[in-house]
Amino acid sequence: MVSVADALAVLGVILSLPYLYRFTYFIWLYFLRPTKIHHYLHGDAPYAFVTGATDGIGKATAAELYDRGFNLILHGRNEKKMQKVIGELRARGNRNADIQYVLADATKSGHDFEKLIAPFKELNITLVIHNVGGSNGVQPERLDERPEDYIHSLVHWNALFPLLLTRVLLPQLRRSAKHGPVLVQFVGSLAGDISPPRLSIYAASKRFLEALTRGLDNDEHYFDGPTGVRFTYLAVGPVNSASMPQKPSLNTPTSEQFAKAIIARTGCGLRRVAPYAMHAISQVVVEALGQRTVDYYTAEEMKTLIKTYQKSA
Ligand SMILES: NC(=O)c1ccc[n+]([C@@H]2O[C@H](COP(=O)([O-])OP(=O)(O)OC[C@H]3O[C@@H](n4cnc5c(N)ncnc54)[C@H](OP(=O)(O)O)[C@@H]3O)[C@@H](O)[C@H]2O)c1
Repeated sequence: MVSVADALAVLGVILSLPYLYRFTYFIWLYFLRPTKIHHYLHGDAPYAFVTGATDGIGKATAAELYDRGFNLILHGRNEKKMQKVIGELRARGNRNADIQYVLADATKSGHDFEKLIAPFKELNITLVIHNVGGSNGVQPERLDERPEDYIHSLVHWNALFPLLLTRVLLPQLRRSAKHGPVLVQFVGSLAGDISPPRLSIYAASKRFLEALTRGLDNDEHYFDGPTGVRFTYLAVGPVNSASMPQKPSLNTPTSEQFAKAIIARTGCGLRRVAPYAMHAISQVVVEALGQRTVDYYTAEEMKTLIKTYQKSA
């Protein structure tokens, strides 16, 4: 006969299985799994398209991709800065990689996206990193203290620009997917999970990208497909960059460290992944603490952050 102690022990093991699985998967994903980035180097002259590529995470990711043999299509908004970045990339090695670029202010609506990508229409694009976006730091204004134009530009910058660019790229991505995997990655934010006060428009725009990732992946994989075009949402915590000058630390990698993490996790098969291990741990802690606690401490943290930004402005 089974004793109560034995039954409880079995129950304990069963209940701990999901945690054990999560832990084992964590070790596999962040410490053991080899990168699959080379799987996207297929067909004739493969290209990676990186938006917001003249600084921070985008620039560092473009450099990693260049080093790994990709031709590049870079997006930015400033011709002079773009030329400088291209010069720096070329100085990394004497490869004959092709580097093309497109300039467009992502906060502005009314772009002719077909025209923007026309010069690249025949290229074999196998990887897209929708990195452009941001929050303009942290400011004290509430929603009703923001002009409508500001709200439009923030949403366009983070959500509509990547959406509309994806729309025009899709036919050629499907074409590239005929000879190998194609991946579109949206750079999101952990702010999207917790919607900090005063950052709700930014957080909601990133949440939009997460829903878009799942929906488009469903379109391409289950409904129409599989077409071979897949989508991933990257859950990003603090990263030291041009617009986020937090001091690098264990939880705040430099843009270069973070770019390596993006490359390492590329093609892991998850629709949502935190490329950087410490950000994945933050996610787990946030889930464990529960909404009330997280919201209380986030509000306190935001008050301090806003004061710091105001002092430095
Ligand atoms: N850093 C963080 O802590 C953090 C945390 C969570 C999520 N993220 C996300 O990561 C992504 C990259 O952030 P980052 O910190 O690397 O930013 P960053 O250092 O400010 O670099 C942003 C890049 O985007 C370009 N860009 C900015 N506004 C643009 C516009 N209106 N039109 C066209 N290009 C524009 C910048 O061009 P210029 O060189 O001309 O300025 C630059 O190339 C963003 O989507 C952000 O939301 C960042």
